[in-house]
Amino acid sequence: MLPRSEEKEWSDSSGVSEKFYAYFKLPNALFLNRRLIYGYLKKFLDREGDNSILDVGCGGDLLQYLAFRLEKDGFRFSMTGVDANAVAVALAKARTKAWRNVRVVCGQAEEVDGSYHVAVVSQVLHHLSPADASYMLKFVYGTVSRGIVISDFVRSRAAYWLVKAGIYLTTNDGVHRHDGPLSVLRSYADEEIGRLMREAGIRSFSIRNVLPRKFIIIPRGREQA
Ligand SMILES: C[S@@+](CC[C@H](N)C(=O)[O-])C[C@H]1O[C@@H](n2cnc3c(N)ncnc32)[C@H](O)[C@@H]1O
Repeated sequence: MLPRSEEKEWSDSSGVSEKFYAYFKLPNALFLNRRLIYGYLKKFLDREGDNSILDVGCGGDLLQYLAFRLEKDGFRFSMTGVDANAVAVALAKARTKAWRNVRVVCGQAEEVDGSYHVAVVSQVLHHLSPADASYMLKFVYGTVSRGIVISDFVRSRAAYWLVKAGIYLTTNDGVHRHDGPLSVLRSYADEEIGRLMREAGIRSFSIRNVLPRKFIIIPRGREQA
């Protein structure tokens, strides 16, 4: 197994532009991240009742896609996106301004208020140290009543080269070219995820690999993923 890298992503330590965040739309669509997240999310949604959704580390892209799909499918919903980066928040706000039931707040995941039916955590886990990741998971688990959908990368050579090639073919941005493949190397392997979950007090979860991504489904309450 590839060892987990502790090298920091450039985007975590330097300022990034709106263009940097806008790029995520392409790989998220190309590698089916958004569609798969929505598919897993739907299993936790109530066709007849309300659905409140928290998007942790929302970036600029995912909220708009989810709002569009939820509305199209006729779900009654409200969504909160939280991101520590003000540039991501500004972009997410601009892209979701048509929805009055979507709010975006700037801050750490653990600062978000309220409780939610479901949470989405897409491409955030690998940014965090094991201690920070389990702390964040514990917090998010405490705010939801139905479940959590997490997307991250499979840490493998195949995923590494797939992501590296995909990024080199679609952008010449130096930060993406550095951070994309590094994200794969920073991602948690299955047994490491098991440890994070135990630390967070989460006993039931399942992992599905859809190269290059990994999806972790955490049910709460009656609903099963
Ligand atoms: C790679 S981007 C993913 C954006 C989006 N979720 C997606 O899938 O396209 C990771 C985002 O997580 C945010 N982030 C990382 N740690 C966070 C934390 N503890 N609380 C809130 N946001 C966080 C970063 O600011 C960044 O915008």
